[in-house]
Amino acid sequence: MQNLKGKHIILGISGGIAAYKSVVLLRLLVKAGADVQVVITPNGKQFITPVTLSSLSGKPVISEFFTANTGEWHSHVDLGLWADAMVIAPATASTIAKMANGVADNMLVTTYLSARSQVFVAPAMDLDMMSHPSTERNLATLRNDGVIVIEPETGELASHLVGRGRMEEPEKIAELLNAFFAPKNQALCGKHVMITAGPTVERIDPVRYISNFSSGKMGFALAEEAASRGADVTLICGPCACTTSNPMIKRIDVESAREMLEAADKAFDSCDVAIMAAAVADYAPAEFHDRKIKREHEDVDSIRLVKNPDIAASLGKKKRDDQILVGFALETDNGAANAEEKLTRKNLDMIVLNSLADAGAGFGTDTNKISVYYADGRPSNNYTLKSKTAVAADIFDCIENL
Ligand code: CTP
Repeated sequence: MQNLKGKHIILGISGGIAAYKSVVLLRLLVKAGADVQVVITPNGKQFITPVTLSSLSGKPVISEFFTANTGEWHSHVDLGLWADAMVIAPATASTIAKMANGVADNMLVTTYLSARSQVFVAPAMDLDMMSHPSTERNLATLRNDGVIVIEPETGELASHLVGRGRMEEPEKIAELLNAFFAPKNQALCGKHVMITAGPTVERIDPVRYISNFSSGKMGFALAEEAASRGADVTLICGPCACTTSNPMIKRIDVESAREMLEAADKAFDSCDVAIMAAAVADYAPAEFHDRKIKREHEDVDSIRLVKNPDIAASLGKKKRDDQILVGFALETDNGAANAEEKLTRKNLDMIVLNSLADAGAGFGTDTNKISVYYADGRPSNNYTLKSKTAVAADIFDCIENL
């Protein structure tokens, strides 16, 4: 947690039961050497006492615009300028709604509107409130305004059904802030990196689809690595439960291979490096039934499938000399030969092979074991089993050497 030392952090607390976790978060931040100013909503004080918070932070807690007995004015503008980061945890549905709409009727939201630093929110509410369209809309507005929304990873494809609304654990939030303040290797500063990630989902009817087991973890690790090296990142991802933490990452959510192609095509012209880490479904149903297919038939003979566009190959066709295109090959057999064939066929500069035959490599795991092959004929690099974060660093070291 060494990056937090000396950082000015505003910890905003609104009125939810998860406010007890803010005490732990405050303790972690202070222990890491951060200078923390707590701003709490009037409702927040129903859940946690300002005395606890001021004892831990070593500063009076701010809640009102004025201190009642002295008339001292708390300047939200000065506070907004002082902060290196602001984190609102827990953020209730009401605080999120006020932030999204600029309703500055308490010190916390007023400070948010004055903050010049990166703002993080950790929502905490019950599932129904969290999935209500109005909350979804307000969170989308906040994301659009550059706020980083911190949600626990659920590890499920249908993430919207599991565990949403629970506030992320304080340890995780502190880690995220620490990563945000990490000193940057600026080798990719000024470069635009595009990454495709996760699976694609091809709809059969309103309730069924064809997809694969890709978790998106490798692509998201690559996005974080690129951003930490100073790149502007466009991350185009199919449905997955991963979240990003670096504000340099612009995430574009898509569903099908066609949508992914469209988004990738748009971003490609302006990018210096494109990495195709998505597991694109090879086929999609020829027709989409807009009504649920009923179970009236004994057997269904077939669902006719049509070939999806090959995104990597289509970018390979229009690649300029000043652009680097990187692909992945996930193989079960003849790894090296298949990888080299894809490298040529898709006009890639580099391909990363991971084999499902290696334990701990491939889909869903937090680790991967890769080999890297190059189009310019230099010998391949073979790596040992590592965390996907470390693998992402190896991949960018290879790219920087191209
Ligand atoms: N890829 C893509 N669009 C597709 C299929 C693949 O962009 N429709 C990209 C992947 O992101 C990856 C590379 O191409 O970087 C190789 O993907 P892979 O699925 O291994 O290759 P395929 O061409 O689909 O060949 P096969 O399924 O026969 O192994």
